[in-house]
Amino acid sequence: MSRTAFDTVVRTFAPGAVGATVRLRGWVLRSRSSGGILFIVLRDRTGSVQLTGRRDVLGPDAFAAAEHVQVEGALTVEGTVAEDPRAPGGREVRATRIEVVDAGEAFPIFADQTEEFRLDQRHLVIRSQEHVATFRVKAELLRACREFLDREEVLEMTPPVLSGNAAEGGAEAFRFDYFGRPAYLSQTAQLYLEALLFPNERVYALTPSFRAEKSRTPRHLTEYLHLEVELAWCDLEGLLDFLERMVVYVAHALAERRPTELASLGRPPAELAALAAPFPRMRYAEAIERLAAQGLPVRWGSDLGTAEERALTLELQAPIFVTHFPRELKAFYMLGSLADPRTVEAADLLAPEGYGEIVGASCRETDLARLTSRLDEVGADRREYEWYLDLRRHGSVPHAGFGLGIERILRWILRREHIRETTPFPRTPSRHTP
Ligand code: 4AD
Ligand code: MG
Repeated sequence: MSRTAFDTVVRTFAPGAVGATVRLRGWVLRSRSSGGILFIVLRDRTGSVQLTGRRDVLGPDAFAAAEHVQVEGALTVEGTVAEDPRAPGGREVRATRIEVVDAGEAFPIFADQTEEFRLDQRHLVIRSQEHVATFRVKAELLRACREFLDREEVLEMTPPVLSGNAAEGGAEAFRFDYFGRPAYLSQTAQLYLEALLFPNERVYALTPSFRAEKSRTPRHLTEYLHLEVELAWCDLEGLLDFLERMVVYVAHALAERRPTELASLGRPPAELAALAAPFPRMRYAEAIERLAAQGLPVRWGSDLGTAEERALTLELQAPIFVTHFPRELKAFYMLGSLADPRTVEAADLLAPEGYGEIVGASCRETDLARLTSRLDEVGADRREYEWYLDLRRHGSVPHAGFGLGIERILRWILRREHIRETTPFPRTPSRHTP
């Protein structure tokens, strides 16, 4: 039979489908048989529907074969759509023919198995309804980001993820042997995007980033998807304005296009639809005062980690920008603030409800001498950055950019406890397989 000869499950719920003959193919969510009737819930990419099959209609051999199909076994079926108030969704398909494609072995995934076992079985666990919903939202999120960037005339670029220099601070880069020379997996595409900015003015990249951090926290992966944007002629206000419009656009798009999945994962779509720009801005100095007043052991110069960001955002409903961090806490390429040279023109976007940092943003240092002395201060090997310094020798203009962690923003949007639930095959310090 050709591909087009099949319907999808969604067709069985379409207006006017009752009485129609449909041909479906898919996988068994669950099945049982009693008194010569088989009840199967079949799923495909569009949803799931109950099938009923009678032994006297299917014939004893076909009935027996269908009875032996395991959870996640595969079938094709032909039948008639019927109204049935007992069936999920109020409709079922009364099968006239069932063909077993693969009866399958007993499916090894059940409720209440340990987390370690489930991670070992990740290649099968990702068939769960929860993961299907999660990755649909993720695909829509990526689509909405690209849509927004396209409308803003930001050009998609394809920088390398394998490089001879460690961009974001050597200690956290995965290093490996590249034909006898050291190489690193990319922690950020930023430096390449800055090079691509000068010919294109507005660029972005969506690439995997790698962090060799041994942090076992619910928000760290060693490989994550990084959406990075770099804009010419842009200051901090312009950057934050752009970024918050993007986040709002994406949140509204998800609320509109994936309401069922969002609701099933515990995020009422209305909460995303209610997000509006501008997001509140708070200076780092004020954040420290607030945290100290809450009794946290911080002072000017302390980094904001998981606990501090949680304390700042636990009661919030919308994201918040924390701006003007001390320069010592941030990367070498950030532009110093004119008003207070101890700080940089940078901001982190923190997600509400305790989730914390989802974006790191900053204006870039454009002055060759200051950039070189910052490299020396952080102890970087200047020779590795020669090509980057060249960018400040030929038409350097004010520019700014940000990096958004796709799994971080999803963890907030989908209210997941652990970031690993937002990616099919999570990479963490203790696991890089399956
Ligand atoms: O704040 P980060 O380190 O900033 C940069 O890499 C800049 N060069 C980006 C830029 O301006 N182009 O990382 C940016 C974002 C963080 O805000 C966070 O959302 C995410 O990347 N991120 C991680 N996500 C998951 N696991 C990790 N270990 C992450 N580390 C950073
Ligand atoms: Mg950061």
